[in-house]
Amino acid sequence: MEKAQIAVVGLGVMGQNLALNIANKGFPVAVYNRTETKTTEFIEGPAKGKKIVGTYSYGELAKALEKPRRILLMVKAGPAVDAVIDQIKPYLEPGDILIDGGNSFFEDTERRNKTLTAEGFMFVGAGVSGGEEGALHGPSIMPGGNRRAWEALKDIFVAAAAKAEDGESCVDYMGPRGAGHYVKMVHNGIEYAIMQLIAEVYDVLHRGLGMPEAELGEIFTQWNAGSLSSYLVEITADILKTKDEQTGKPILEVILDEAKQKGTGKWTSQNAYDLGAATHAINAAVSSRIISGMKEQRVEASKVLKGPEPVFRGDRQQLIDAAKEALYAGVILSYAQGFSLMGLASQEYDYKFDMKRIAKIWRAGCIIRADRLDDIMDAYDRNNALDNLLMDRHFREIVMPRQGAMRYFITTAIGMGIPVYAMSAVLGYFDAFRTARLPANLTQAQRDYFGAHTYRRLDREGSFHTEWLGSQPSED
Ligand code: 6PG
Repeated sequence: MEKAQIAVVGLGVMGQNLALNIANKGFPVAVYNRTETKTTEFIEGPAKGKKIVGTYSYGELAKALEKPRRILLMVKAGPAVDAVIDQIKPYLEPGDILIDGGNSFFEDTERRNKTLTAEGFMFVGAGVSGGEEGALHGPSIMPGGNRRAWEALKDIFVAAAAKAEDGESCVDYMGPRGAGHYVKMVHNGIEYAIMQLIAEVYDVLHRGLGMPEAELGEIFTQWNAGSLSSYLVEITADILKTKDEQTGKPILEVILDEAKQKGTGKWTSQNAYDLGAATHAINAAVSSRIISGMKEQRVEASKVLKGPEPVFRGDRQQLIDAAKEALYAGVILSYAQGFSLMGLASQEYDYKFDMKRIAKIWRAGCIIRADRLDDIMDAYDRNNALDNLLMDRHFREIVMPRQGAMRYFITTAIGMGIPVYAMSAVLGYFDAFRTARLPANLTQAQRDYFGAHTYRRLDREGSFHTEWLGSQPSED
């Protein structure tokens, strides 16, 4: 029998769809799942008639593969990845390639890469974005790790990945060790930020303007046809127009307002704090998910903590237009923060990221795909050492004229008592970044006052301490 060119271990929906996708591109696939019935159901169901062979032990799986073996793990991020690696290793030979296609934390990928490399295996940590549909029809794939392994996987991944409008495949080598999962983590951080910005726009226009979901859905459809054209805006329009089958109400009316999270957004913020990156939008999005989870407390608090009624008395169209422009600028600022973080990570971890290449493979297949990613590519083409997208003229010319819309949107929302934390955070980032002199001089003075932590001066080199007025022991 023809040997399989790649194995997929873990037949959750993502694993199944990736196996189908790869087989549909002409590569024979071997599959394995811990629960045997799942393998049989898959083989006799969606995989029937395709070049997919089911295996029921790791020994059988190893025999079904051509060498060097290529094994794609699609198991839940965390200890399950280590467990599967440990179980499968005895059946592998040096030179075989293990690929972790889950949402693993990049430091885990660093650790696994080190161990597996020392044992003679080749390891690739590959971020895969695009959800179930993407996995089946073409995800964006962010592989990092062993470069030779990437070369050996390239044909399969290029065939399986999404294609951008220019026909380019949305997969490329991101860098050594944990680089692929790092890029996927930041992708998700930006995903969190954009989702929260959209949620705030929905809240202000729905609750503040009293605009029904279906009408708002039409507005999002219009926005998606213009500068805001992107997957997240497109699906928001669909969601707003969807009715609940049971009650006939807009589906959003019946969905509990508690946002869950599996950790990637939080990791992005945590890592940004570690590296000293200002990721205001992502941090605000993570905090917004956390406070959304405090449902019971919020319900109790809403009975006693009164604020303004969310009633808007101004020009409706002006607020709708401002929301659109604010969202556009907010999204750009979210990308700017994510890319700046990757710039710092590139140095810190020696990932040697090629930002243009990252923007290139985010153009299709992934959750944050958007027309503007082409512009991000162009910006890095003009200057591949760009620290911040805002320093590129094109992006400056998008954000600067829209700051008025952001300010109007935010102040209007604040006046109505509607939380717009992420939008305020992105504007706060913009305002801080463009401010040559921030009040951190006072912070430094306070630190020196209570802890003699010293400060630097504008007019002289060195480290200074002041005997502060009130800090002197009193004379009487
Ligand atoms: C993607 C998504 C995907 C997943 C997120 C959801 O790129 O396809 O990001 O990876 O939907 O992990 O994350 P949360 O559960 O944290 O929202």
